[in-house]
Amino acid sequence: MDTHAILNIAYLIAAVTFMTGMKMLGSPKTARRGNQIAAVGMTIAILATIFLHDKQIDPLIYILIFAAIAVGTFIGWYIAVKVEMTKMPELVSFFNGMGGATAALIGLLEYTHNTDSAYKIAMIVAGLLIGSVSFSGSMIAWAKLNGSMRKPIRLPNYNIFNLIILIAALALAVFIVVQRPESPIYLYALFALALLYGVMFVIPIGGADMPVVISLLNSFTGLAAAFGGFLYDNMAMLTGGVLVGSAGTILTIAMTKAMNRSLTNVIFGAFGDTDLTGGEDGGTKGTVKSVTPSDAGILLNYANNVIIVPGYGLAVAQAQHAIHELEELLEKKGVNVKYAIHPVAGRMPGHMNVLLAEANVDYDKLVDMDDINPQFKNTDVVLVVGANDVVNPAAKKNPASPIYGMPILDVEDAKNIIVLKRSMKPGYAGIDNELFYNPKTSMLFGDAKDSITKIINEIKNM
Ligand code: TAP
Repeated sequence: MDTHAILNIAYLIAAVTFMTGMKMLGSPKTARRGNQIAAVGMTIAILATIFLHDKQIDPLIYILIFAAIAVGTFIGWYIAVKVEMTKMPELVSFFNGMGGATAALIGLLEYTHNTDSAYKIAMIVAGLLIGSVSFSGSMIAWAKLNGSMRKPIRLPNYNIFNLIILIAALALAVFIVVQRPESPIYLYALFALALLYGVMFVIPIGGADMPVVISLLNSFTGLAAAFGGFLYDNMAMLTGGVLVGSAGTILTIAMTKAMNRSLTNVIFGAFGDTDLTGGEDGGTKGTVKSVTPSDAGILLNYANNVIIVPGYGLAVAQAQHAIHELEELLEKKGVNVKYAIHPVAGRMPGHMNVLLAEANVDYDKLVDMDDINPQFKNTDVVLVVGANDVVNPAAKKNPASPIYGMPILDVEDAKNIIVLKRSMKPGYAGIDNELFYNPKTSMLFGDAKDSITKIINEIKNM
């Protein structure tokens, strides 16, 4: 068998592992293994690409390639091991930006010796344009998420300005593909315009909307890589790129649906950071009943069925281990405990699943919104841990509310509701929550981890 055939078999194996890995990422039980399988496939694809080709290569190039792989692997591994769970979205954004930059660099390097082929120049231009937008956009998203760029920056008429940059970039791209000028100067201009567009596209968007934007940029990077796959006739790169592109698109759509927002609403910044006004849901004031950890402990201890609703505050408080301990303690006392998982609880897709998996919570105890909602009416106590918007009844009852139409967890149906949070401050949507004024609700104010630890101690002493 010639090397070309072996190379194609290696790419086929890689493509199959990518798809298998992607499928396995769909469940927390198989996600880790799926990631490993895809990584093995990627290693096969990289090694095959380096060693199985016909051209003679200077041995120094091999040394440079492996030195670069070693440095990249070490940096990636170190950052991934060190990162805190709450910093995950910004890490994803950074890594995604690197993918976009790579796709753009391919375009810059390959242009001059491919000007005889309109097809190859089209692939180069498309990869460079999309990869550059993804790179600069992801870097802005990263800066927003790590707090160095806090506020959305909205220049006057920024949508028109952005549209002009986009049209100019597209026109230049068409010119380059049609004319294929020998000089790369036009390509550099396109690179600059695309970088500018990436920056201008992301800066007006509120920091808290970044997960949606990152997932969109992720799909851009996948698309840019797929163009690289066409350019090099590399099936593994093409399949990987298409999978990333389609997964990013599906995730973007799923997130916007679960938040009941349109993508244009996110991109054009109609509702970004929680500091935006207009969040009042009609003034649902009333009496708030505050309880002690002891009262909460008694309610939980004597319940038959308890549902825990985790939200963003669980991540902030890093209370995942404490909540698991409470769950195990209650189970030992004969209480049936489940977790209700809202698709956009927290600040990134699967945030609650990842947190609870980190604390070794049994996956079977995590129940999705559609399955758990009918169960609230038979529940004695709902323990809301740092969740707010995902349990806000205004989403169902108040057409004037910015979250109206967003599917929520029906915690109001339960017999008792205990809410753990630090204050009466709103969550991400910046709106009041009438659940806190419901006569069935007891507020236990304080840091979630602290409150849970106190409840555990109370129950242990009962
Ligand atoms: P939020 O509505 O953001 O509410 C979180 C609550 O946690 C806050 O009200 C806060 O109240 C409390 N909290 C913060 N730190 C705490 C601590 N240390 N101890 C106890 N409580 C603490 O969260 P949610 O219900 O999970 O909803 C998520 C929101 O984010 C939705 O509006 C969703 O649309 C949006 N969003 C989600 C995603 C994804 S993909 N998950 C992406 C972008 C946006 P205090 O300050 O009073 O403590």
